[in-house]
Amino acid sequence: MKRIVILISGRGSNMRAVVEACAAEAWDARIAAVFSNRADAGGLAYAASRGIATAVVDHHDYASREAFDAALADAVDAHAPDLLLLAGFMRILTAGFVQRYEGRMLNIHPSLLPAFTGLHTHRRAIEAGCKVAGATVHFVTPDLDHGPIVAQAVVPVLPDDDEAALAARVLAREHELYPLAVRWFVEDALRVDGGLVRQLRGASQLLGVPGALRGAAPQH
Ligand code: GRF
Repeated sequence: MKRIVILISGRGSNMRAVVEACAAEAWDARIAAVFSNRADAGGLAYAASRGIATAVVDHHDYASREAFDAALADAVDAHAPDLLLLAGFMRILTAGFVQRYEGRMLNIHPSLLPAFTGLHTHRRAIEAGCKVAGATVHFVTPDLDHGPIVAQAVVPVLPDDDEAALAARVLAREHELYPLAVRWFVEDALRVDGGLVRQLRGASQLLGVPGALRGAAPQH
């Protein structure tokens, strides 16, 4: 039984998707704890309502990033996780923290990495005239929003999209993508080799390819 700890900062809808899939699909896993760096994170109440241990480790209470990360690591390690998930966790983590969980920490980012690391991904995709957008689940490395890509989901960018419309379309896909990737980790179905992640059972690591692209023959 794998133990999973989830870090959030806000509404926690991805955390919720993982919690629900873990129960509905009877994973050999348990969500051991959910931590937030913000006391007002909406997701905390949901986690508590599911009987999951929750706590706030407020970054304002620590003088440095290192001190915050040390306190967070103590809280996380008390639950002996096999897997640590970042789910809308809005703090940059120190290299020391990241290395401690190397190979067992995943993040979901709302863009098709390596495009649009950082914030405001949907606005930037629209402004760049992108015709597709999406989300990426990746192993976390010290380099922000980089790290071996486990899976991606794509959605179209429609002509009249604003940031909110595109964000909603991507988020719906995130709620399928993150549970799928986490389940693969739980089932030991992922292998990282040379910075690339392979799904050992050959499952597609790409979700939601628009019909126009699926199986498209090369044009001559
Ligand atoms: C998601 O878009 C996720 O990709 C990004 O932050 C957002 C968190 O949303 N890292 P939620 O808290 O999971 O609802």
